[in-house]
Amino acid sequence: MLLPIILSGGAGSRLWPVSREALPKPFIALPDGETLLQKTLKRAIALPGVENVLTVTNRDYYFLTRDEYESNTESDSKHIIHDYLLEPVGRNTAPAIAAATLHACRKHGEDTVLLILPADHLINDQSSFTQAVSTATTLASQGWLVTFGIHPTAPETGYGYIESGEALADSISHKVARFVEKPDLETAKTYIASNRFTWNSGMFCFTAGAMLAALRQCAPEVLSAVEQTFAATGLDKDPVVLDATGFTLAPDISIDYAVMERADKVAVVPVSFDWSDIGSWSALAELVAPDDRGNRTSCETVLVDTDNCYVQSDSRMIAAVGVDDLLIVDTPDALLIAHNSRAQDVKSVVARLKLLS
Ligand code: GDD
Ligand code: MG
Repeated sequence: MLLPIILSGGAGSRLWPVSREALPKPFIALPDGETLLQKTLKRAIALPGVENVLTVTNRDYYFLTRDEYESNTESDSKHIIHDYLLEPVGRNTAPAIAAATLHACRKHGEDTVLLILPADHLINDQSSFTQAVSTATTLASQGWLVTFGIHPTAPETGYGYIESGEALADSISHKVARFVEKPDLETAKTYIASNRFTWNSGMFCFTAGAMLAALRQCAPEVLSAVEQTFAATGLDKDPVVLDATGFTLAPDISIDYAVMERADKVAVVPVSFDWSDIGSWSALAELVAPDDRGNRTSCETVLVDTDNCYVQSDSRMIAAVGVDDLLIVDTPDALLIAHNSRAQDVKSVVARLKLLS
């Protein structure tokens, strides 16, 4: 059985002022009107044989998530059963995945193949995605923890890097020689130059039993906090709201640092589909077709002698005169103006606002 696990608890501070704690990245509408969460659900339930979807998210996003899912009519017509694990606090992906693993073991058994899908990814090529998941599912059933490797195009420091080792029998996948989460720029440059590395997409595939064993070996403190949480949680309720006392004790650590960097039997399926984690306004701007001066707009604008700008506004008309290479994002209570080359630094605004509050 293949069980997609949708993770949608993180905030995404690089898309401020639209993405905030009250409306994280998976819930913001893209230029085509659909949210990343809706797209993730669609992608998951289009996989053959999927009957259940488990969503792990913060309890504050439960109703928002259900609204998003209810707008997906395929989910209804395919009679997909939705389960929810609601976190009282964000503890990063290791505790979220540990909770999903325990839930799957209890409800569906240790042989269940879990497909971890972050809710902030854009993948348009469903058939290549389905193909990659099929390759990963076979490896997962053999006990591998499977990652999906994206061909790297730049020395990004916001991604995990996977060094491919020996080829596996399917002649597509490789054993992972090394997994390095978020290296510094100099290290990332050497990885790119070596041609042996791919980016970690953040999606994973493994059986519940294999992840349980890996957590026991690599991150026992995460597993025991989540086991304690389960012991104090009403597990037959719908939705399952994780016990706050236990879950708060879980270390705040990602699955990449807690397990993937440390586990033995890790494989990588190299993938060829287009992939973006919409990590900045520049990535989001790419989704809008440019006009003949390179401007990309998704609202009413008057642009005079203006080139290569991205302009978005909830309601107001935006005018610009004689400016180039700007990201302009207007919301009712905050306006962002940033240089195109500084898209990644928008997160510093959020950091500064946190200091002020
Ligand atoms: N339920 C839940 N709870 N989900 C969470 C939590 C949490 O506490 N924290 C993060 N998530 C969700 C986010 O919403 C996102 O969908 C996913 O888990 C990954 O978290 P990010 O915070 O976006 O991770 P990242 O982008 O820094 O790094 C990961 O993704 C990269 C690719 O996008 C890593 O796996 C990297 O290795 C990878 O390259
Ligand atoms: Mg991310």
